[in-house]
Amino acid sequence: MFLLHNPTPFISLLITIVTLIGSIDCQATYSSHICSDSQNSTANATYTSNLSTLLSSLSSKASLNSFYEDSSNGIYSLYLCRGDVSSNTCQTCVNNATQDIRQRCSSNRTAIIWYDECMLRYSNRNFLGVDQTYPRVLMWNSKNTTSPDEQNFGALGLIYTLIDYVPYTNTMFGTNQSAVPDGSQNRYALVQCSRDINSSDCSSCLGMLGDAVTECCQAKVGWRILAPSCSLRYEEYPFYQLSSTPPGTVPAAPEPGSEAKPGNGESNTKTWL
Ligand SMILES: *[C@@H]1O[C@H](CO)[C@@H](O)[C@H](O)[C@H]1NC(C)=O
Ligand SMILES: *[C@@H]1O[C@H](CO)[C@@H](O)[C@H](O)[C@H]1NC(C)=O
Ligand SMILES: *[C@@H]1O[C@H](CO)[C@@H](O)[C@H](O)[C@H]1NC(C)=O
Ligand SMILES: *[C@@H]1O[C@H](CO)[C@@H](O)[C@H](O)[C@H]1NC(C)=O
Ligand SMILES: *[C@@H]1O[C@H](CO)[C@@H](O)[C@H](O)[C@H]1NC(C)=O
Ligand SMILES: *[C@@H]1O[C@H](CO)[C@@H](O)[C@H](O)[C@H]1NC(C)=O
Ligand SMILES: *[C@@H]1O[C@H](CO)[C@@H](O)[C@H](O)[C@H]1NC(C)=O
Ligand SMILES: *[C@@H]1O[C@H](CO)[C@@H](O)[C@H](O)[C@H]1NC(C)=O
Repeated sequence: MFLLHNPTPFISLLITIVTLIGSIDCQATYSSHICSDSQNSTANATYTSNLSTLLSSLSSKASLNSFYEDSSNGIYSLYLCRGDVSSNTCQTCVNNATQDIRQRCSSNRTAIIWYDECMLRYSNRNFLGVDQTYPRVLMWNSKNTTSPDEQNFGALGLIYTLIDYVPYTNTMFGTNQSAVPDGSQNRYALVQCSRDINSSDCSSCLGMLGDAVTECCQAKVGWRILAPSCSLRYEEYPFYQLSSTPPGTVPAAPEPGSEAKPGNGESNTKTWL
């Protein structure tokens, strides 16, 4: 056995390291969900039990795959982790999502749940490979930017440059950042498609969501648009792993809260079924 004369500092250092790693590595931050059945197609006991089997199997894939699709007994499902998260975070998020969605949509045969770090969906209809831009969730921080024209130009510029490029990458995921001209602020954008659809559908999906920015989000300091097949997000703080930061190190700037989340008085959500 390994003994130290005075183990206390060593142990508290260890706890600090574990806590830091844990807070970066194992988070699953709920964003939104939609149970989208018609009243008539509620899940019976057979469906629920087959769904449990399917979701357990799906969840077991998340330590090795950042995307996975699976179907059995007439139920179709997939998960997608955000392109920059570690396999640990992916696993935690998917595991949490499989449990959470069964509670939130316990009697529905079609459902989708989004976290900051992953999304998961299932249905009795085969959606695999189908570009779906509805149901859609629009979320924005109600805080207006001080220079709306410049902000829109900058935010949409980042998003549209990504939309031109990301669909033709392997993971159909991309982020980009830029500085506001006066240098006082950075802006951060993320776009991602579900990997069951092809590049041309990804491009079309992202284009549709880009057009939806005018419905909610122009001149807002933070927003996101979530759809089954793709998503967009914009913030004025870093919310993804910056590529210049080695994985596992502490980000220079802490994420300043969850300002664009539901439940917070400053945020807004609009759902289109
Ligand atoms: C989900 O199932 C519940 C219980 O049957 C039902 O009341 C609800 O309308 C369903 N949700 C949707 C969005 O259809
Ligand atoms: C839903 O159920 C009601 C009552 O059983 C039935 O009259 C109606 O036709 C059903 N609608 C659909 C779309 O299946
Ligand atoms: C349960 O739903 C499935 C379709 O999901 C259907 O085939 C089956 O007949 C239903 N079982 C009962 C007991 O209603
Ligand atoms: C799906 O449900 C049916 C009815 O309960 C059951 O016979 C079958 O074994 C289930 N399949 C799986 C993979 O659990
Ligand atoms: C999912 O994670 C949240 C914290 O992010 C926690 O409150 C919740 O209990 C977890 N749910 C499950 C089913 O693990
Ligand atoms: C933001 O700007 C819009 C449009 O000018 C205005 O309606 C809204 O009240 C403003 N919101 C805040 C929080 O200032
Ligand atoms: C990232 O943003 C910069 C500055 O706006 C731009 O020049 C560059 O093309 C963008 N790169 C990608 C991959 O979108
Ligand atoms: C992409 O997938 C859609 C739907 O499956 C299909 O209609 C389309 O032809 C595909 N496009 C390409 C370029 O493969």
